[in-house]
Amino acid sequence: LLTLIIADAALETVPESLRDHTAVRRSAASRGKRSDEVLLDRSYHHAAMLRLKDHSRRGRPDLVHFALLEAAATPLYSEDRLRICVHMFGGKAIFMGEQVRLPRSYLRFVGLMEQLLQEGKVVSGGRRLLESVDMDFGGLVDRIGASSVVGLSRSGRPSGFEAVAEDLASEEDAALVVGGFPRGHFTAETASCLDQVFSVNRRPLEAHVVIARALYEYETQVLGK
Ligand SMILES: C[S@@+](CC[C@H](N)C(=O)[O-])C[C@H]1O[C@@H](n2cnc3c(N)ncnc32)[C@H](O)[C@@H]1O
Repeated sequence: LLTLIIADAALETVPESLRDHTAVRRSAASRGKRSDEVLLDRSYHHAAMLRLKDHSRRGRPDLVHFALLEAAATPLYSEDRLRICVHMFGGKAIFMGEQVRLPRSYLRFVGLMEQLLQEGKVVSGGRRLLESVDMDFGGLVDRIGASSVVGLSRSGRPSGFEAVAEDLASEEDAALVVGGFPRGHFTAETASCLDQVFSVNRRPLEAHVVIARALYEYETQVLGK
């Protein structure tokens, strides 16, 4: 089983220091919510975010939405050969169940994440679709029990998608780690848990493109074409 971890993901509820900011309260009220219930989103909270530490890497749930849709649409996931997790900025892990169909609509995805982060789980028909747990990245790696943790970053050792997939397929329970942030590199905490880090292109690519290509190569090796 391969585990995909979308790491240092720019997905979090509005942090306490910004909850009284006018732009934050207004955008929450327009959705009938309190400002502690909504996701931090740069498209609505840009002005408020300027005072946040690491603001350029935060408040992009859309990146996580794209990445999750991409991963969950693969035959690998449909055939229960891929487990999908997110590790959020600020230290929470999200575990996605098997055969979960995520909303295509961004607004519905945001609503689902807000529900998950408030209630700790999303259950449907007695099945746990999503679960969120407070844990650091090392705790997540331990819980997965990965035999090898492979990160992708432009600052890694030059390689290619095919070679990385071969490496992953040679392990019983590998984890593939892709950043869920718009710019910059993995946090020191995440980087310290990676056994190997590869660069797969000299250009910076979007996380969903990297995920689609890496999973395609891995799938070809373990399931065939
Ligand atoms: C938008 S990028 C983050 C920005 C960063 N400048 C970068 O290029 O790694 C999101 C994620 O995609 C992956 N990624 C993007 N370009 C890559 C590359 N050329 N090689 C390996 N991974 C890459 C990394 O996991 C990265 O954290």
